[in-house]
Amino acid sequence: MKVLFVCLGNICRSPTAEGVFQALLADSDLAGRMEVDSAGTGAWHAGESPDPRSTRVAAQRGYRLSGSARQVRPEDFARFDHIVAMDRSNLRRLRELAPSPEAARRLSLLRDHGPSAGRGQDVPDPYYGGPDGFDTVLDICEEGCRGLLERLREELSA
Ligand code: 4NP
Repeated sequence: MKVLFVCLGNICRSPTAEGVFQALLADSDLAGRMEVDSAGTGAWHAGESPDPRSTRVAAQRGYRLSGSARQVRPEDFARFDHIVAMDRSNLRRLRELAPSPEAARRLSLLRDHGPSAGRGQDVPDPYYGGPDGFDTVLDICEEGCRGLLERLREELSA
């Protein structure tokens, strides 16, 4: 099963979700059964490493962020079983890019997999804010990724 996390720049939120999800997977019985990647709807930061502010906060909790930023590509809609957007604006953009209704059905919002209080809400963009924003992103990614992993476990066993 293949999962793609998507934000705007692919340097803060989606690499964080990718790193958290990889760590949860590695600690689970599903290790080796999933492929995980991230991308951005925008191309401004293509080729860059994750934002050092994200990398630092992630490292404090034992997560390693890796990879270099890339923009979402048309092939992603065929390749990934789940494309998980970090906010509603990027979800809308992904819906516009989806080549078919079937592909659009594989889109979801990260927080819709997390606690009910956060459903329908965004992972707030931390890029122009202070350091607290990066901690908040991690808290939300941990909750959403835990829920997502449980959902995918059910899907795999169905
Ligand atoms: P991300 O954060 O979407 O979580 O990677 C952003 C990174 C860069 C910009 C905006 C958001 N930017 O405008 O360059």
